[in-house]
Amino acid sequence: MPDRYAVIGHPIAHSKSPQIHTWFAQATGQDMVYEAIDGGAEPGGFEQALHAFARHGGRGMNVTLPFKLQALAAADVASDDARAAGAANALRWQGGRLQAQNFDGVGLVRDIEVNLGQPLRGKAVLVLGAGGATRGALLPLARAGVARLAVLNRTASKAIALLDELAAHLPPALALHSGGTDLLPGLPAFDVVINATSASLSADAPAVPPQAFAPGGLAYDMVYGKGLTSFLRLAQSAPDVRVADGVGMLVEQAAEAFAWWRGVRPQTEGVLKRLTVPLV
Ligand code: ATR
Repeated sequence: MPDRYAVIGHPIAHSKSPQIHTWFAQATGQDMVYEAIDGGAEPGGFEQALHAFARHGGRGMNVTLPFKLQALAAADVASDDARAAGAANALRWQGGRLQAQNFDGVGLVRDIEVNLGQPLRGKAVLVLGAGGATRGALLPLARAGVARLAVLNRTASKAIALLDELAAHLPPALALHSGGTDLLPGLPAFDVVINATSASLSADAPAVPPQAFAPGGLAYDMVYGKGLTSFLRLAQSAPDVRVADGVGMLVEQAAEAFAWWRGVRPQTEGVLKRLTVPLV
């Protein structure tokens, strides 16, 4: 019997995770199956589906919207990244305990540094937004050795509260800024600007002036499959800025989860090539 894994979310039909993990399993020769489970909209639906999956031999799960917070709450133990993010995107059952992880931030860092060839050590990084996506990114960005980290949001108070909460987990040498995006005209440019807002989902963009992007830097939108988003278009109006969407982050977080479950890290290059759509 192959080992069972799944992604759970609501809705879930659009998820690329079954395809990605099936490719990984084939490439690494792992005897496993990976399915998509709709946790439904009813209260308690997620927990019921989780326990049913475990009873039927489930070994691990990816968790997507809207269940990432509940996944953390359901776990017996959680990694630092999951606790800092306040959310889990990967689960595994081991020794009768449910363990939680959050690989989104690690996936983001790996995509930026390895796939896109943009080093982060010593760099100035701006994260736009103060929701769950930002939360998940901050510890991994700090571990990558960024020198200056700004978290700016449309609603300044949310960015300030988020950094206040997480600052104790970040290295003391890291220069931190938080506040509203209206501060941007007064700040030096950033080598990497990451859009972690949900603005691209409504064809909108956070208010970023072109001077915020340092020449030779990278503009990164965490969404994928939306083509050249308004944010990436805005970045292109600055001189010499490369743009990328979040497809590599998706693939890299999947590879991290796969390695955590199976003890073997799949190569991501081929899968990334298959999923990448030119940004036009
Ligand atoms: P989640 O926790 O699921 O990531 P969220 O808490 O709703 O989602 O966070 C969404 C983020 O995107 C917020 O930082 C939000 O800004 P506000 O705090 O000011 O609401 C940001 N956001 C959403 N739409 C935006 C837009 N059109 N322009 C700028 N920021 C936007």
